[in-house]
Amino acid sequence: MAMTADGKITTANRAVAAFSSARDRAHLLALRATADAVMAGARTVDLHPINLGPGPKRYRARRLRSNLAEYNLRIVVSGSGSLDPDAEIFRHRFSPILILTTRRVPAAKLRRLRALADEVRVCGDTEIDFRRALRWLHRKWHVRRLVCEGGGELNAALFAARLVRELHLTVCPSVFGGRTAPTIADGLGCQRLADAARLVLKSRRRVGGELFLVYGSGARNPGGSQVHRLSTQRARSQSTSLRRFK
Ligand SMILES: NC(=O)c1ccc[n+]([C@@H]2O[C@H](COP(=O)([O-])OP(=O)(O)OC[C@H]3O[C@@H](n4cnc5c(N)ncnc54)[C@H](OP(=O)(O)O)[C@@H]3O)[C@@H](O)[C@H]2O)c1
Repeated sequence: MAMTADGKITTANRAVAAFSSARDRAHLLALRATADAVMAGARTVDLHPINLGPGPKRYRARRLRSNLAEYNLRIVVSGSGSLDPDAEIFRHRFSPILILTTRRVPAAKLRRLRALADEVRVCGDTEIDFRRALRWLHRKWHVRRLVCEGGGELNAALFAARLVRELHLTVCPSVFGGRTAPTIADGLGCQRLADAARLVLKSRRRVGGELFLVYGSGARNPGGSQVHRLSTQRARSQSTSLRRFK
């Protein structure tokens, strides 16, 4: 995620899509080049002309050298099926597009989504059950590494489910303000310190006016047991990791 110095990922009216440097955008493509799949929330995909693809040839070559498919899978999350069929992502068919949705979506809308994507997976009643979704992505689409690129609503769901292994955060030298401007993790948030997702700073780098930070998921948490269960499970399966977003 690219974030302003006051913690925002876009302006309150969500009009600003890109505010970080070319260096940061290259960093995003480099991260995509490490993953089987790239995922984003419905609003991010609807509001901006993004295609979630690997970008220029040098990144595709990098993928091939790492034994990854030349083009990453693309995953869009929409619990209500509210996606705009004219969104930019659906105009580019270089790799499969998968939609994760819920039982909230009426049958007619589900049919429209199915016409739009390569596969639509219902994973949950009202909210996506991401643990289930990731298991399915691993089993059916062989996704071992997933980069999640926001927005704040989707990130919050992944943090709440304790599924974020690494957070790549670029702190940019601007201030947007705006009490309703999205942050890297919105949603309902936690009510107690014990429920906070704990992170460990793994690396930091300053380039020009930006700070490139990488956090790993914390080993210890005052809430304790949940994180322990997750790391145990992770050690067992080494299945899917979720990474950055933008
Ligand atoms: N600075 C950055 O690095 C960066 C990166 C990405 C995005 N952004 C910005 O973030 C803004 C969008 O963020 P956002 O928080 O408003 O939206 P978002 O996270 O992109 O999308 C939210 C939508 O995703 C679906 N969704 C997310 N979590 C879900 C869950 N657990 N279960 C079911 N559905 C779920 C819902 O779709 P339905 O409503 O269809 O149910 C929800 O309305 C954009 O303006 C974009 O510019 C910034």
